[in-house]
Formats: sequence, C-alpha cells, structure tokens
Amino acid sequence: MKRSYLILTLVLGTVLGILYSCQRENGGSLEQDMYYTNGRDIYIQHCQNCHGEKGEGLENLIPPLTDTTYLRENRNKLACFIKNGMEGPIVVDGREFNEKMPDHAEITDIDLAQLIVYITNAYGNKQGMYTTDDVVRDLKNCN
Ligand code: HEC
Repeated sequence: MKRSYLILTLVLGTVLGILYSCQRENGGSLEQDMYYTNGRDIYIQHCQNCHGEKGEGLENLIPPLTDTTYLRENRNKLACFIKNGMEGPIVVDGREFNEKMPDHAEITDIDLAQLIVYITNAYGNKQGMYTTDDVVRDLKNCN
C-alpha cells in the first residue's frame, strides 16, 4: 500500500513538473500557450511555405519574422497585414522588401489571434498575449 502511494506521488510529481515547465517555456499563461500551439498549426498550414520553418523568410523576396523591432512596432497592424495581404516597400531586418503578400480573408478572428500570439512569441519575439478583442479592434483600423 505505502509503496503504491509513493509511486503515485512520484508519477504525479513528474507529470506536474512537465506541465509546469511547458507552461513556463514561453513565459505566459496556459491560455497564451494554447493560442501559441494552435497558432503554430495555422502558421504551418498557411504561412510556412513562404516565411519558412523558422520564420527566416526567403532571400530578398520574403521578409523574415525574426525582426522583433518590426513586429513590435507594427503589432497593431499585423491582423490587417495577414487578413488583407500587403504590398509595397517595407524595411525588415535592415533590408528592403517590395513584393506582394496574398490576403488570407478566410482566416477567422480567433485564428488570427492565435496566429499573432504565435508569430509574436516565436523566433525570438516575446510580446505576450493577443486576444480576439484585439483582432476586432485592430481590423477596424486597416487602411
Ligand atoms: C505567398 C507567400 C506568402 C504567404 C503565404 C504569407 N506571406 Fe507574409 N509576406 C509575404 C511577403 C512577400 C511579404 C512582404 C510584402 C511587401 O513587400 O510589402 C510578407 C509580409 C509579412 C509580414 C510583415 C513583414 C514581416 O516580415 O514581419 C508579416 C507579419 C507576415 N507577412 C506574416 C504572414 C503570416 C502570419 C502568414 C500566414 C497567414 C503569411 N505572412 C503568409 C509573403 C507571404
């Protein structure tokens, strides 16, 4: 009897330890972690082809997602960029890009929020939580 309690405690401790360290990995809440994980799946499906597995972009054609300053300064425009696409000259990572990103009009607000949590907390970025309410607010200000 005692022995099985001991084993149970050890197993539980290990499981909790793993859960805890997963949660701590990108420094956020459990909700943020769920957004991040779902966002990664959406990224793989819709974005990875162009922006790369590690957000590295492609030469002078596709900008990387590793420029933390660019993503921070444009935090409130990301929903518009992704949903409506973008074109024209931009400077990312000290380089000029002047291409066209297609729109992703089919992506829902919740998916946009998850995607943005992912790209703004992966590849060296650390911007924290971004909610569906933020998406709705930011999409009102697209130009
Ligand atoms: C067909 C290729 C393509 C796909 C697919 C694509 N992008 Fe882009 N993306 C681009 C290009 C090209 C630009 C630069 C446009 C310009 O020069 O104005 C860009 C720019 C960006 C930018 C702003 C610049 C930067 O690097 O930070 C972000 C953020 C972004 N894309 C995120 C995404 C996300 C998220 C997805 C998936 C929903 C996605 N893109 C899908 C090609 C693509």
